[in-house]
Amino acid sequence: MPECTISEFPAHVGELVTIRGWVQNRRSSGKISFLIIRDGSGICQAVITRDVAGEPYQEIKKLPLESSVIVSGVVIMEDRAPGGYEMQVKGVEIVSKADEFPIGKKEHGPDFLLSHRHLWLRSPRQIAILRIRDTLVRHVRAYFANKGFTLVDTPIFTTTYGEDSTNLFSVEYFDLGKTYLTQTGQLYLEAAIFALGRVYCLGPTFRAEKSKTRRHLTEFWMAEAEMAFCDHEKNLEIQEDFVSYVVQNTIADRENELRLLERDTEQLKKVRPPFYRISYDDAIELLRKKGHETAWGEDLGGDEETLISNTFDKPVFIENYPRKIKAFYMKQHPERKDCALCADLLAPEGYGEIIGGSQREDDIGVLLKSMQEHALDPARYAWYVDLRKYGSVPHSGFGLGIERTLSWICGLHHVRETIPFPRMLYRAYP
Ligand code: 4AD
Ligand code: MG
Repeated sequence: MPECTISEFPAHVGELVTIRGWVQNRRSSGKISFLIIRDGSGICQAVITRDVAGEPYQEIKKLPLESSVIVSGVVIMEDRAPGGYEMQVKGVEIVSKADEFPIGKKEHGPDFLLSHRHLWLRSPRQIAILRIRDTLVRHVRAYFANKGFTLVDTPIFTTTYGEDSTNLFSVEYFDLGKTYLTQTGQLYLEAAIFALGRVYCLGPTFRAEKSKTRRHLTEFWMAEAEMAFCDHEKNLEIQEDFVSYVVQNTIADRENELRLLERDTEQLKKVRPPFYRISYDDAIELLRKKGHETAWGEDLGGDEETLISNTFDKPVFIENYPRKIKAFYMKQHPERKDCALCADLLAPEGYGEIIGGSQREDDIGVLLKSMQEHALDPARYAWYVDLRKYGSVPHSGFGLGIERTLSWICGLHHVRETIPFPRMLYRAYP
């Protein structure tokens, strides 16, 4: 009997085929049982009658959810069935009868679900999110490939830190002492632009942030781009183009999954250039008008970002933050010496920051001074300073957080569902 996947059913209507999968759901009425089978490619309803199944029918009827099975039957079109097809079953082989599945129909709290993440992944909602994640990452890579960027895989063990000395995970590294799990691939991408012009990386990054918010993970994936001969203005244009491309393509490819998540995609369809732009100064003023006092020079936290991002119906760039709250490598603003030529991109609908980016300091004198102000060990950064000695050019780049972007696209409250096995302040299991 030919084996096929449920996703291949349209090509097998009227044929007798075999599928392998798991019992996602079941119900029975008298002499007839309906099993919802999930095989990783899709779901289908398998209809089993007592007449056909014979003696094993009693066992099949009571098969625990998530038992694994091999099912043979005839594929028929059935509009009312989930997935649009049905299987008239001729035979069922039980591969493994499951214990009672801990995740049932009743409501479970987030802690319970996260502790059973290895099983929770099988639920339709989680399957939908994982598929959207795959599609998002595919479009991120496609965008860069189409625009002449070369993939450069940056290291995970680093001896420099890119963003913030206060949230590093350190690892003992043989006789060399401490290394850190990377916070960003950026500094290494900066080295690669001199060889390749436009480069990107997409990998895990780590922040030992003691933040227990709906936006923070300690391990998250970031897509970072770096471009030679690119100024702040051009950097923002590329980001608008990039974010619009990945959002539009992802929602077009994953209509069914987004519907399952009950995501209203009308807001997402508006995500096209140009995005809004305001300065950090404007942001402080806007917050004040909304009754939320933030002193100039303070960083914008989650609440502030939510307030600002709820004000706009499309993503908004916040430009020119004070230098003292931003990373050492950001270029000093030519007219506002206390500000950086940088921008964060906030997603609308209250989602907040999804991108951090800037033009990079290419003046070696200003860079060295900034490193001193940040108390960076010059020996560890010698290679980075070298980049300003051998053909230095104006250059810029940005980093997009995959989980935050996915959380926004899917309309989720918390980033924890956007990554297969989330790592957070109080969670590294399973
Ligand atoms: O703003 P960040 O820290 O920027 C950088 O790391 C730069 N080196 C990027 C660059 O210019 N190449 O982080 C970039 C993005 C944020 O906007 C956010 O989307 C995500 O990474 N991010 C986090 N996502 C989940 N959990 C965390 N703890 C995150 N920290 C940052
Ligand atoms: Mg940031």
